[in-house]
Amino acid sequence: MYGFEWQDQRGVEGTGFVRALRSLLTAHLPAFQSDFERILRANFDLELRNPDEDGFARVNLFPMIKRMVTNVNCFVFFGEELCNNEKFTEAALEFPQAVIFAAEFLRITPGFLRPFIAAAATKRHRAARTIFHYLEPIVTKRMQVRDARGEAGFAKDLPIPVDCVQWLIDTSPRKMPWSSARMVGEIMAVWFGSVHQLAMTTAYAIEDLCIHHDCIELLHAEITKARAACKELGGKALDVEKQLPLLDSFLRESIRCNNSDAVTGRRKALAPYIFSDRTSALAAGDWVCVPQRALMHDATRYRSPDVFDAFRFVRANQEFARGETARGYVPGDKPSSLTTVSVDWPIWGFGNTACSLTPIDLSAKPRPVLCVYDSQARNGACARRLGVQDGGSRSASIQDVEIVSRSSQ
Ligand code: HEM
Repeated sequence: MYGFEWQDQRGVEGTGFVRALRSLLTAHLPAFQSDFERILRANFDLELRNPDEDGFARVNLFPMIKRMVTNVNCFVFFGEELCNNEKFTEAALEFPQAVIFAAEFLRITPGFLRPFIAAAATKRHRAARTIFHYLEPIVTKRMQVRDARGEAGFAKDLPIPVDCVQWLIDTSPRKMPWSSARMVGEIMAVWFGSVHQLAMTTAYAIEDLCIHHDCIELLHAEITKARAACKELGGKALDVEKQLPLLDSFLRESIRCNNSDAVTGRRKALAPYIFSDRTSALAAGDWVCVPQRALMHDATRYRSPDVFDAFRFVRANQEFARGETARGYVPGDKPSSLTTVSVDWPIWGFGNTACSLTPIDLSAKPRPVLCVYDSQARNGACARRLGVQDGGSRSASIQDVEIVSRSSQ
């Protein structure tokens, strides 16, 4: 892909994205919040613009959420200009899907055939080529500007763009600088990671809002109160953990029950290794991972693990804060939140390689639904009920869920 090769070893060519995402992007998220909400509301209005005679608009949930996550993330990654370029956003949406689709084919393809199958499955890398076409000139120019900064005669008042592309450029190696093609490859790799998981998690959260309708009023009241408090403080960004504990708990329960990934924290042993408790020995090349789906449904960790208990985490936090044990609602012994990285909440992975961005913008996505739309899951409720009877596996995929929404303003 334009000379971009993903190395089999971490840090060989720098891990600039860690600082760009973990520090710079995270620090800027509160400032982006009003833009997130603006883009999301505009997207919901567009997606649900054609109501039927009963006043409800019908839309397939997962494709809609993928388009929305793409649009919001495009804004944060690439800035307003590219975010409004339809050809670019279409390619940005297609790229992660094409990669996942191709990866499944490649797993069962013999090595010598892989280049041909990869080309066929990705329509000759169509999405990647389009992204490269638009991004490469911008990246080249910005890299030149970065290199010229500090030189005599450089226009110091030139504004520095506020987006991930810029932070990834600014944190890329200086000593052995990457080519602009290498830089674009790095940006596309991070882009891939930013869309898929977030879209799945958001889609399940919205499906759960539709299914567990009884929670909506409480969540709505909490958001309305928090927004009023923010307004009083001069538009300060919402602090999800402190001001929206019910929403935080609801999202965690949705993640616990749906767990889009069965396992997390995959690690490959580079040398023979024995676990400190001597339970397992690994040979070089062996893979280990944490069975997070099984952990989330383990009755010794979560009381009634197959019941969707929207506010179990908030109740547990209240009890921990009072110095009590959480009576088996959740594992652990101290208050925690959606973005806590811990062995008891492994969805972000672990240690140095934990997700570079525990995405607080996840909570921004269900908010417009709660504020503006009255929604029901058409076949989602039925899929979930059957899924539980099946022992936890869904009988209908999230692709099949349609939400039915009516504007309430
Ligand atoms: C709900 C959404 C998300 C979930 C559940 C999630 C989960 C994860 C997990 C499990 C890992 C592997 C950690 C490990 O191996 O220990 C990871 C890594 C990563 N994630 Fe996320 N992620 C999400 C959203 C995002 C977003 C929105 C971004 C970027 C804007 C992102 C960027 C990354 C990056 C760059 C890594 C690699 C970290 C490293 O190797 O140092 N993720 N994520």
